[in-house]
Amino acid sequence: MNAPDAFLRRRRDLMSLAEPDSVLIVPGAREVLRNGDSHFAFRQDSDFLYLTGFDEPEAVLVLVPGREAGEQLLFCREKDPERERWDGPRLGLDAAREQLAVDDAFPIDDLDEILPGLMEGRERIYHAVGRDPTFDRQVIDWRNRLRKQKRNVRAPEDFIGLDHLLHELRLIKSADELKRMRRAAKISADAHARAMRACRPGLTEAELTAELLHEFTRHGCPASYLPIVAGGTNALILHYVKNDRPLPDDGLVLIDAGCEVDGYAADISRTFPVSGRFTPAQRAVHEVVFAAQQAAIDRVRPGNVFDDIHDTACRVLTEGLIELGLLTGSLDENLEQQHYRRFYMHKTGHWLGLDVHDVGDYRIDGQSRQLEKNMVTTVEPALYIGVEDDLPEEFRGIGVRIEDDIRVTDGEPENLTASVPAEAAAIEDWMNVG
Ligand code: GLY
Ligand code: MN
Ligand code: MN
Repeated sequence: MNAPDAFLRRRRDLMSLAEPDSVLIVPGAREVLRNGDSHFAFRQDSDFLYLTGFDEPEAVLVLVPGREAGEQLLFCREKDPERERWDGPRLGLDAAREQLAVDDAFPIDDLDEILPGLMEGRERIYHAVGRDPTFDRQVIDWRNRLRKQKRNVRAPEDFIGLDHLLHELRLIKSADELKRMRRAAKISADAHARAMRACRPGLTEAELTAELLHEFTRHGCPASYLPIVAGGTNALILHYVKNDRPLPDDGLVLIDAGCEVDGYAADISRTFPVSGRFTPAQRAVHEVVFAAQQAAIDRVRPGNVFDDIHDTACRVLTEGLIELGLLTGSLDENLEQQHYRRFYMHKTGHWLGLDVHDVGDYRIDGQSRQLEKNMVTTVEPALYIGVEDDLPEEFRGIGVRIEDDIRVTDGEPENLTASVPAEAAAIEDWMNVG
């Protein structure tokens, strides 16, 4: 994990952005039951992780700027040898104070009792308003309890969404964060390269999924989202995650998968022929998507706006669709009418960070946002050609997406995931070695 000071700095930065006389409350994620007494794998809340680096459930961070007895307070589980025998070690209060650089730590079981007092004399409460109705109610209850208990003290009147302040901070990645993102990118790229090389006719989507997960797991990394391993026309299903069909001998397979390192995600897509050789039609479609991706990546520069990336991809895809005979008419008319949407119905990218679809506004005052150094975005153009009778037969059922993770630098875009072959010729070379 990052040095505790990095988290301390983030908490200070956040407090400095809040209005005076505020209290800021950030709960960790809850454990979620899968069935019986088995839980889903625990994933810490990204906001909480960003501010604490603390990966246990049942924790709440409370920031009380200017409070003399301590501004940065953590509520967490106490040491409990009996429970720790079953569930593994807990950090506990003393170590939390030392290792997490908070001013004080309290038992999570005392949260209800202590929190109303921390609101005393404050005018506003910042929290993720509307994200979790149970927590929203709890915050209001604490405030109401303070009012009831102490009629003559000031209790907060305003409930303000924390998201905007916190997510602006999260949007620009620090050197520490980029280190983790590069590692997630490298392991994810290796996983794609491994699956690509393992691929051959006769395998199933499940077997390629296993190759990906093997590479993630041996580095101790969970997947950052459910992998998509889509053979043939399954690639036309944007969120295909069943990954259980035989691969088509002469078809393509689209893999969209990434892992996370300390919570930081990678998100990569590649599309390649199961046989190791593209058919002419598959290659032609792949080349259009690759050209669109290269042109779009080249737009990831400071001063350009976020929409430039998508607009560039749409232009190159449309040129290609006309060349392939999948669209007729002029380039301008097709762009204006957005005819490409029959084959390309999603956006070309999203911020990437602790969340796969990371936080941060895409528009400011109604305008597409300018790119700034150390933002990270995916660039993921695609073409999905349906199986309808009016389409040329050789292209029917082809789905191609190529996705990389790109950092805005002072100049040339940095492709964090460049090490896995993306271009048709490079893919064939990689698949046919040995
Ligand atoms: N893997 C999710 C996405 O590409 O947006
Ligand atoms: Mn993506
Ligand atoms: Mn993806």
